Amino acid sequence: MTSEPSRPSQPNHPALSNLLQEDRRFPPSPEFAAQAVATKELYDEAARDREGFWAKQARELLTWSKDFEQTLDWSDAPFAKWFAGGQLNAAYNCLDRHVEAGNGDRVAIHFEGEPGDTRSYTYAELTREVKRAANALTELGVERGDRVAIYLPMIPEAAIAMLACARIGAPHSVVFGGFSADALNSRINDAQAKVVITSDGGYRRGTPSALKPAVDAAIAKGADTVKHVLVVRRTGQDVDWTDGRDMWWHDAIEAASEEHTAAPVDSEHPLFILYTSGTTGKPKGILHTTGGYLTQCAYTHKNVFDLKPETDVYWCTADVGWVTGHSYAVYGPLANGATQVMYEGTPDTPGRDRWWAIVAKYKVSILYTAPTAIRTVMKWGEQLPAKHDLSSLRLLGSVGEPINPEAWIWYRRVIGGDRTPVVDTWWQTETGAIMISPLPGVTEAKPGSAMVPLPGIVADVYDDEGKPVPTGSGGYLVLTEPWPAMLRGIWGDPERYKETYWSRFEDVYFAGDGAKKDDDGDIWVLGRVDDVMNVSGHRLSTTEIESALVSHEKVAEAAVVGAADEMTGQAVCAFVILRGGADEGPDIATELRNHVAKEIGPIAKPRQIMIVAELPKTRSGKIMRRLLKDVAENREVGDVTTLADTTVMRLITDKLASQPKAQED
Ligand code: WTA
Repeated sequence: MTSEPSRPSQPNHPALSNLLQEDRRFPPSPEFAAQAVATKELYDEAARDREGFWAKQARELLTWSKDFEQTLDWSDAPFAKWFAGGQLNAAYNCLDRHVEAGNGDRVAIHFEGEPGDTRSYTYAELTREVKRAANALTELGVERGDRVAIYLPMIPEAAIAMLACARIGAPHSVVFGGFSADALNSRINDAQAKVVITSDGGYRRGTPSALKPAVDAAIAKGADTVKHVLVVRRTGQDVDWTDGRDMWWHDAIEAASEEHTAAPVDSEHPLFILYTSGTTGKPKGILHTTGGYLTQCAYTHKNVFDLKPETDVYWCTADVGWVTGHSYAVYGPLANGATQVMYEGTPDTPGRDRWWAIVAKYKVSILYTAPTAIRTVMKWGEQLPAKHDLSSLRLLGSVGEPINPEAWIWYRRVIGGDRTPVVDTWWQTETGAIMISPLPGVTEAKPGSAMVPLPGIVADVYDDEGKPVPTGSGGYLVLTEPWPAMLRGIWGDPERYKETYWSRFEDVYFAGDGAKKDDDGDIWVLGRVDDVMNVSGHRLSTTEIESALVSHEKVAEAAVVGAADEMTGQAVCAFVILRGGADEGPDIATELRNHVAKEIGPIAKPRQIMIVAELPKTRSGKIMRRLLKDVAENREVGDVTTLADTTVMRLITDKLASQPKAQED
């Protein structure tokens, strides 16, 4: 099912529509600027010689077993090779070299479990654990190039498992623990994973929730490549066991030696695959490789977050199941030798001040989170953060979706004590690392704007014809030069890679986002212009949810739109036509919502399901989602989930009558 493209001039969040009237400015304080890691010379340096700039970053920030010969090989564009000829190991760069440099006693991870249990790992301890895990994986038959699926809650073993894979050159494919067995099954099969690493369960909102049954179900649906399942004991709940296939993580680790030499791999060796939603039903396996990815993760983590690894305590609240968790809760901070906090649970357990208690407890100095979370804590009130000493914070970051200026201002004032810079960072699973962001000691920030491409990155906003728009205008966000952490393709589907990202405009990367350039040329990202929705900073595909709905026996047709939502940015709204004769029953909406949760995961459940008799279509049969979006957004959001057909159709026809042209393609 396709739909007409939406226009970049339609911002997704209600508060974004008057965004360009925003005239508040936040320059860095002189004190912050005076001690800042990144200075304005970085821009000049990168502009003088972009490739030379990246080569210097790669050599300064990482330790190479073999130096590279060529910074960028773009001869086979859009398939890039960065730092060709070089060899390195990502886990060695995140671990051993810090121990060798005498920083083995520095804490790498302060883990805070949801029930209140805590564990800290120094760099020496984390290195030891990863070495053992690497040996354990080798023992299970995992070899260089084999894929390992990781389906874990936010616990240290997730990072340990990822790094153990990196250590032996086995690309990992982390699947978010909130995805269903069906979603896990398709990801395991697409990547042909040999081993799955999971846990009995994890904690969520005060109760243990199971994970292992989803792995069992995913494999039962057919996953011939899986030879072993390694199970971390987290909650202690009972688990079904398949002898010969399943093995406890702690048994495997205890049996493994703590001696292990990291194997250097080529710079372009695959580091991981991460599935993300695209415009078609099937999630795309985004492929990242080693040298370029790690260089840009380390570079951005250091400069955007103004990292002082000796003194800072950094906390990224993202789950490792998403790209932010990969780049900024594992590879970036560990490559830079940072001390970080990892938290298993939700912000409201046991109380709505849990995050602030954690900030105070560990004296967190850098916090990186998503606008949805900021809007949520904002709704809970200022008195909760006020109960805790947040004076350790000196920098705040935002990622995942456009941040409305009010949330930005609140974040800085209430959480940052009116003192901290706020960096709004734009990037994607595909870009691997931050691309557009202020530099905290240099840029005068505007609330709601990601501002300017980082030194070394070249971005622009194009119109329909592929020409850069003048300042003050909107269009499509594009990246006009290759960058080190760029995706190297879609796993197993090079054509789809070219078509998805490199065909909309010639020779430039089309990000799928609409953006505006303000009068100063600063960039305001407005949200997706394709069939991808952004719900609480999580990417969901309209077509994927439509396919899930249509796979239900009672459903004949379905159309899904992302409707603006004050809290989550967008919310999933579905319009469904039932099969002739299907018994609607009083709970059809609940039944369908649960079906989507089973097919994809609870995060994809529609907020609203409206049963309709017809869907508005163009003459060529394309669903006019824009009209459905109008309906979904104007409708009073309540519990009424079955809309009478006539009402929907009247709303829709009224719209059609007032815009006769809208019926055309
Ligand atoms: C959106 C998350 C506005 C955007 C790192 C992008 C943002 C999609 C921002 C990628 C931001 C991310 N301002 N929008 N600072 N950061 N986005 O792959 O629509 O989960 O295309 O990567 O999130 O989502 P993904």
